[in-house]
Amino acid sequence: MRFHVLTLFPQMILDGLNTSITGRAIQNGILSVDAVNIRDFAENKYMKVDDYPYGGGAGLVMQPGPVCSAYKSVTERIGKKPRVVYMTPQGYPFTQQMAQEFAQEEDLCILCGHYEGIDERALEKIVTDNVSIGDYVLTGGELPAMVMIDCISRLVPGVLNNDVSAEFESFHDNLLEYPQYTRPVVFMDKAVPDVLLTGHHKNIETWRRQKSIERTLERRPDLLKDAVLDKKEKKYLEELIRQKEEKETKKL
Ligand code: ADE
Repeated sequence: MRFHVLTLFPQMILDGLNTSITGRAIQNGILSVDAVNIRDFAENKYMKVDDYPYGGGAGLVMQPGPVCSAYKSVTERIGKKPRVVYMTPQGYPFTQQMAQEFAQEEDLCILCGHYEGIDERALEKIVTDNVSIGDYVLTGGELPAMVMIDCISRLVPGVLNNDVSAEFESFHDNLLEYPQYTRPVVFMDKAVPDVLLTGHHKNIETWRRQKSIERTLERRPDLLKDAVLDKKEKKYLEELIRQKEEKETKKL
């Protein structure tokens, strides 16, 4: 898969993604990340790409010309018009499902804004998807772009060592992941749960599913309405909810 990032800070994108798992996938040729510097397409000798907003207000707005020219350089190079994702706090919230959809693309262009945003006409011309990584405001779209690229990349075949791990992850069946343990068996008076030491696969699987359900109920109850549970697990969840409600009424 090929990512094309339009940005004023190309080095930030390259430094961030050329390490660890994405770095290895780039080395292996499974992924490529090209960071296109929007400033290279400035239309004046000062290489300025922003200006004051019409109508007044704080901050500067990125001009449409350099953004569209940077995009054109990508379409001309790859010979097609890829989807263009604009990273913005005003976008649709990024989800695992979105990542799965984007991972099907061969080329994905990602546009990073700065200052007070980008002239709306450039966005109307080139953007196909508006995406936010959360309800908070960052100084630019580079970190959100890296978050999104990281998440999409691990779904591309061959990027992770074992394809199993992309499956057994948080949000599998809409449940959070169960807790993990490794050696030593006892750490600061805390022991690894007995069941994990038994080698009894069926019991371990049941325990892990129960822990996933407990954790999801505690931290992300909103996910449970779409969770995939069998009959016994539904009963287990109902019992947990009953206990939780009992505790809450005792507190009152
Ligand atoms: N740019 C600034 N904040 C952002 C956010 N939360 N998501 C995506 N892009 C952004």
